[in-house]
Amino acid sequence: MEPHPVLAPHYQQKEDKQGFLRKVFDDSAQFYEGIAKWGWFNSGDRYRKDAFRRHGLRPGMRIVDVAAGTGITARAALSIVGDPSLVTCVEPSAGMITESKKLLNCEHIQAEAENIPLPDATRDYLSMGFALRHVNDLEKAFSEYCRVLKPGGTALIMDVTAPEGRFSFWMFRFYFKTLLPFLTRVFTGSKAAEYLMAYYWETMEKMVPNEKVVDSLRAAGFSEVKAIVHLGIFTEYIARK
Ligand SMILES: C[S@@+](CC[C@H](N)C(=O)[O-])C[C@H]1O[C@@H](n2cnc3c(N)ncnc32)[C@H](O)[C@@H]1O
Repeated sequence: MEPHPVLAPHYQQKEDKQGFLRKVFDDSAQFYEGIAKWGWFNSGDRYRKDAFRRHGLRPGMRIVDVAAGTGITARAALSIVGDPSLVTCVEPSAGMITESKKLLNCEHIQAEAENIPLPDATRDYLSMGFALRHVNDLEKAFSEYCRVLKPGGTALIMDVTAPEGRFSFWMFRFYFKTLLPFLTRVFTGSKAAEYLMAYYWETMEKMVPNEKVVDSLRAAGFSEVKAIVHLGIFTEYIARK
């Protein structure tokens, strides 16, 4: 199942999505750390650490962070597991990997979620932060997650999803559709980064509901699958192999 339908005019068919994403993420990589900080009111690091603690990440665990970007989620994981040799970042954008390596001295692998070049059953924990909408096929990606995890291992997928109330949805839409792309242009001076933020909104608007993600995790072989929503917009999918 696709996380959202094809988003023309950004790209014309499913097969073009990953090439399109490589380019937009490469073009914006140098700005991503900044946007992730001020765009989320400096809360992102603490939120990621809290989510990991709430969902059982412990010192000494071996973790793979998929769609690692500049490494924000992987660095939060490192602060808990305690040793960079326990952390692997999987990320398809070369630009993002370059930025991540400036801040994080761990293994980096250039690959997509649907095809992770790691051996079976070698990780205690798998995370994915704010990137679910970018995969081509949810079930295919989740099957890979299940494969690389040890039996009993945990997958934690963090995402932002639209709130339910009418007023909250209006505020959410105003921020992500209008204000964030505008502020991104003002603060970074980059058209590419502004474009990425505007594209983000479209993916949020068209993303499949939480229940479909939960169904796909179960279909991929996970058990104890849950979707927990914090503050109306932060969705955490937790699943056990
Ligand atoms: C919004 S960034 C998230 C970065 C980081 N996880 C965080 O928490 O800030 C989304 C990342 O997903 C990556 N991505 C895009 N398509 C992907 C795919 N098919 N598999 C894995 N990662 C993908 C992008 O290159 C980008 O670095």
